Amino acid sequence: MNAPRVSLERVGKDYAGHDGVPVPVLKGIDMTASDHEFVAIVGASGCGKSTLLRLVAGLDDVTSGTIRVAGRPVAGPGPDRGMVFQQSTLFPWLTVWQNLRFSRGLAVNAEATSLEVSQYLARSEALLNMMGLARVRESYPNQLSGGMQQRVNIARALVANPEVLLMDEPFGALDAQTRETMHDLVLHLFAAEKTTALFVTHDVEEAIYLADRVVVLAPNPGRVDSTHVVPWGRARAQELKLESAFVTLKGEILARIRATSAVHADHELLASMAVGARAQSVREGGTNP
Ligand SMILES: Nc1ncnc2c1ncn2[C@@H]1O[C@H](COP(=O)(O)OP(=O)(O)O)[C@@H](O)[C@H]1O
Ligand SMILES: [Mg+2]
Repeated sequence: MNAPRVSLERVGKDYAGHDGVPVPVLKGIDMTASDHEFVAIVGASGCGKSTLLRLVAGLDDVTSGTIRVAGRPVAGPGPDRGMVFQQSTLFPWLTVWQNLRFSRGLAVNAEATSLEVSQYLARSEALLNMMGLARVRESYPNQLSGGMQQRVNIARALVANPEVLLMDEPFGALDAQTRETMHDLVLHLFAAEKTTALFVTHDVEEAIYLADRVVVLAPNPGRVDSTHVVPWGRARAQELKLESAFVTLKGEILARIRATSAVHADHELLASMAVGARAQSVREGGTNP
């Protein structure tokens, strides 16, 4: 078997707490993504999903363990990894086309030959078409809808032909309808591209619909709770979400998130408050619904 494209071995990350004492945010994370695999990472808010992605991106250093991309230990950001965040990171003073052209790929490679530059521009052009952005190539980011801006962000992350595409809740700020469009676009894009994807989301349905595998992180400290294989091939349509096997898988993953998160405790609190409120209403002579 081929070595994994991305591997995390016993990865831990501490942040300094209030009193300077290190607080473990991630602990003992073992995870891999093979070539052209789409791995979704879900888990309760604050369980360390963004931290994990930042470590793979090289935007932050691990406290323990090793992260490798194509066998090479990660020691900082590099053009082999493209990143997309929830909020647009486009340069507002550049047009869509200029944003693509001035991406990191050429900046880190100032000695690019004219052939490399022309290949790069051809790839930018192809991505622009594939993402349905040709019409807005001369527009500025603030003239675009949120969905369009995220398309440009994804195209820009892909322009340097990264081995790994890292996405941190890229559609979290979009409305439901735009998200669906983006999902189908991502499936289409992923079929055409050679990249491997790590995709963070809190939306379990989105995770299953897009991924080959869904990894659930448990919080305090963030660790892998369970991994769920998505049994469908890559050709997917929205109707899949209605199938009973899809709904069952979604239920299983949601149950794991609930079982591992503090929301569990919140539910218990709400239930006890409801009981308390009912008891009070009975005492005051009100009707008990
Ligand atoms: N730079 C930082 N310094 C200290 N604590 C941080 C920092 N970044 C994140 N954390 C803490 O790490 C935990 C995980 O955060 P994060 O990775 O953003 O979670 P998620 O993306 O799953 O919501 C949270 O408790 C957060 O407060
Ligand atoms: Mg996050």
